[in-house]
Amino acid sequence: MPDAYILHRLLRRVAAWALVAFFTEIHIIGSENVPRKGPVVVTATHHNMMIDPAVLSTMFPYQRILHFWAKASLFTNPVVKYILTSAGNIPVDRKAKDRKQLFRGTLHALSHGGAVAVFPEGTSYTEPRIVQVKDGAAWAALEYAKLAKEHPDQIASGAERVMIATAAIVYTNKTKYRSNAIMEFGPPIPVDAFLDQFMSSEEGAARAAVKRLTAALEQQLIEATINAPDWDTLYAARMARDLLWDDERNINLDDFVVISQTLVDLFSTPDLVPNSAAIKRQLLTYYSLLQSSKLTNSVLASLPLPDTLDPHRPIPLPSRLFTLSLLIRDSLSLFIRLPLFIGPLLLHAPAYFFARIGARLAEDEEEAQAQNKVVFGLLLLLLIYPMTFFFLWAFLWYSSVGALISITLVTLVAMYHNKLVNDNYERAKRLIAAWRILVGVWIPKKWDMSMSALAQYTIPLIPAENEWIDRSKVKPIRIPSQTAVIPPAPPARSASYKRRRPPTRRLIRHVLRARAEAAKALASLFAQLEKGPAAEGKQVCASAHLARAYGGYIEEQSLQADTKEGVEAFVQIIGWRSAREVVAFLRQRGARIAALGNRVEGEWAALSSDGESDTVSMEGEKEDDVVWITSS
Ligand SMILES: *[C@@H]1O[C@H](CO)[C@@H](O)[C@H](O)[C@H]1NC(C)=O
Repeated sequence: MPDAYILHRLLRRVAAWALVAFFTEIHIIGSENVPRKGPVVVTATHHNMMIDPAVLSTMFPYQRILHFWAKASLFTNPVVKYILTSAGNIPVDRKAKDRKQLFRGTLHALSHGGAVAVFPEGTSYTEPRIVQVKDGAAWAALEYAKLAKEHPDQIASGAERVMIATAAIVYTNKTKYRSNAIMEFGPPIPVDAFLDQFMSSEEGAARAAVKRLTAALEQQLIEATINAPDWDTLYAARMARDLLWDDERNINLDDFVVISQTLVDLFSTPDLVPNSAAIKRQLLTYYSLLQSSKLTNSVLASLPLPDTLDPHRPIPLPSRLFTLSLLIRDSLSLFIRLPLFIGPLLLHAPAYFFARIGARLAEDEEEAQAQNKVVFGLLLLLLIYPMTFFFLWAFLWYSSVGALISITLVTLVAMYHNKLVNDNYERAKRLIAAWRILVGVWIPKKWDMSMSALAQYTIPLIPAENEWIDRSKVKPIRIPSQTAVIPPAPPARSASYKRRRPPTRRLIRHVLRARAEAAKALASLFAQLEKGPAAEGKQVCASAHLARAYGGYIEEQSLQADTKEGVEAFVQIIGWRSAREVVAFLRQRGARIAALGNRVEGEWAALSSDGESDTVSMEGEKEDDVVWITSS
């Protein structure tokens, strides 16, 4: 019998291959939660466009075929229908009058024990948290459970009980080549538990059952992802994480989400410490300057910069020479290794080049960058590998042994490249950073960007709004406060996402200074949370599930929200964890809190964080700086 899903298997193979080339690791948690057989509706998060279905399909346990929803109107053309069906898609007829009709394809797939995959957020988006979970998946699963109960004859044996499985897909950095992804499956949710209410004849009961089931799956998705009330809190938490672990790769992927959420919760605490607003500001300034200068904290951390690269003073000659020696050393080590890598590098160079172009096309759309990189890179590889194969084969007189040798060689080169690329990519980035820092500290200080011109680069950019999100339906957020009860309106994002790219050599000293100040601020935060009388018994905010897991407590607050329909009262659950426990928790998982202090000890720490330095660089203010601010 021909394989009905041959295209699906083929696409999955190609996608797996592309993902291996793009990611360092895709880490799966909770695969034992996924039923091996039987009908299941898989609900997954959707924050990275086509990468999400690719990760979900290729890494799904037991290689189960996943059926994705596609618009029913596409299925009218027989050729398109064959392609879509073979790729595993099932039609959803959004114009259908009743839900039986709407979910016909879904019910059919489930009745054969199939797995249906849904992105309940409805669209791929970039927000600091999960903002909407629609109830289509719950409707489909409950319609199926009802069908199985009323018409057992229409159901294949073994397909009687349908489950909902949640898949939370988190990216350590969703745009970055060689980053990691984590996919966590929650415990399966048995739909039967909601069926009585769904089938009750009472007015509105079915809808209420659907709402409850949706809430249950949403909760699982939230607990396995990172959710922040706003961009600033998310960015501050990210920056703190980068400073504490130097590189996200130092974090065990099992802990990545809990660590990130713990930091988000920490920075969500109102009046955390007396100077918490200033601390957050320092972190955001450093985050933003890194964004503007296209440097990363991990690369700066990997360069053993001398303490005397003190951004507040003229750089003494020994420090300049030290930076130069770093550059020479890194270049030499790269050149020594280059011959070992040059072959695969040249072979893959066109793919890199086009992947970069792909990312450029989506420069202002964080979402689409990874997808473009993968697709452009993949297309090139699909040209490069076969061409290399035929070239080698021709060289070997098109013999059958020659074909075997050629295919082995191409495979080995591809594997060798993937094995070495992480290391070499890191080295290349370091080399470039060392070079830029060298230029930055060798140029006269008066060329540094003035503080007034710098201001626009110290506020992090936020992604453009996604028009598919219905802001009026977005639920109020957790605001753990006794005073503020009205959730803030969604932040206005009229400000252009774009801004002029600064001449980064004039930013280097500012970046170094911001780094020192952010580290110092973070060190002071942890000192206050851990030591001294104020730390005694201090509690910090926590997501409810983390409060439960780490010995905190839960509090219910009755709040009111202004909605379109008037003032709505609701209860929100807030968790609290002991500040000392949180610090110990982070330390246990590798946070280098002590190193944070060391980094700023000595000369740097003795300086006041602002003041004189500003005046020094103000002297260097040039006319075009002024034009810069007024014209933008
Ligand atoms: C991802 O990495 C890029 C540079 O490689 C950086 O500019 C960006 O801020 C990072 N994003 C996150 C979410 O950390």
